[in-house]
Amino acid sequence: MNDLAGKHIVLGLTGGIACYKAAELCRALIKEGATVQVVMTEAAAQFITPVTLQALSNRTVYDSQWDARERNNMPHINLSREADAILIAPCSADFMAKLLHGRADDLLSLMCLARPIDSVPLLVAPAMNREMWAHPATQRNLAQLQADGATLLGVGSGFQACGETGDGRMLEPQELLQDVIAFFQPKVLAGEHVLVTAGPTFEAIDPVRGITNLSSGKMGFAIARAAQEAGATVTLVAGPVHLPTPRGVQRVDVKSAANMLVQAVDSAGAATIFVATAAVADWRPASTAEQKIKKDASGLLPALEFVENTDILATIAQSPRAQSGALYCVGFAAESHDLLQHATAKRIRKGVPLLVGNIGPATFGQDDNALLLVDADGATEIARNDKLTLARRLVAEIAQRRKAAANPA
Ligand code: CTP
Repeated sequence: MNDLAGKHIVLGLTGGIACYKAAELCRALIKEGATVQVVMTEAAAQFITPVTLQALSNRTVYDSQWDARERNNMPHINLSREADAILIAPCSADFMAKLLHGRADDLLSLMCLARPIDSVPLLVAPAMNREMWAHPATQRNLAQLQADGATLLGVGSGFQACGETGDGRMLEPQELLQDVIAFFQPKVLAGEHVLVTAGPTFEAIDPVRGITNLSSGKMGFAIARAAQEAGATVTLVAGPVHLPTPRGVQRVDVKSAANMLVQAVDSAGAATIFVATAAVADWRPASTAEQKIKKDASGLLPALEFVENTDILATIAQSPRAQSGALYCVGFAAESHDLLQHATAKRIRKGVPLLVGNIGPATFGQDDNALLLVDADGATEIARNDKLTLARRLVAEIAQRRKAAANPA
């Protein structure tokens, strides 16, 4: 992916041991397509050399407001005017205090103060000891920085370089990268609460066996991530899959279709959009044996009886909130042929305003896919692409339809 292609990031380093992580972050931003200009404070240079950052960014590092390389001798103006964002990582407690007071006695703070506030966003990734983080002065500064328009990227929790354990670590480079990518996505779902079901279900036969399917959960996880990037609060009810939880998404793990139904119905109560991507088993064994079913010498096969699982999507689509338009429901259909015909019929059968069709065998476990969106007005194709790109386009399509449904002309 090249999610930051065309973006120019000024990466500011201030004094803290987390500077070692900033080297990895610089690399990760560049790998994602960004150009990166590093600016360091004097304290940052105590922790990591400008040479390392120059080599990684392929640009000379700036560390002084008196840098005569700039023709007008105004690096604070020039560097901030060309940036799509200024990212301070790590941001020390002292540097936060400086930003807050509008002090400008070194290049980085001067540049932050001189940036055009409406067009050059300031992203802050704090890093400090847990006591410093918890101190009322720091928390007060944080709140004021946000009120002044800075975006706080949060902190991690855990073992700290000082030997103590708690909040205040800088987020990991990959987490910061995801947050920066998310920052640049259009906030088309701001204020919405999206519920996504994803992955397969597992219907137990006995304590060691069960029935499941080949769904990888990748499409549902991509939709959860895209919805979060678009500004929504996201709950992801996931069947048994080994996928990392997208940043900022609340994940509820379930196993069987019955568990998924309970959790999805529960979360649907607060949701405004429901996207059902899970490949829910249609049937489950009528009963689960308490002990492992053993082969016996008779040669007879065990007789398994099945009962049908409740349709989660149809159940939620029939709820009063969905019927009143407070909850917009989106179904998925994995078909093997005649996609348009089957998707059209399934949309009506499930009672949902939008159904997304795809060819099942071509997508299960794959990293890319193509989608066919069917609603009351007809069909729209989203051409083959990787699942995150498809998810972002689908989120934009859902946002449009949801707005139209909420405010009919
Ligand atoms: N779905 C659900 N609960 C179920 C079964 C399906 O929520 N018990 C949802 C899926 O998440 C998906 C949609 O319904 O959004 C389509 O499911 P699918 O299994 O393809 O539909 P069926 O009605 O089972 O149709 P068929 O088996 O004939 O293809």
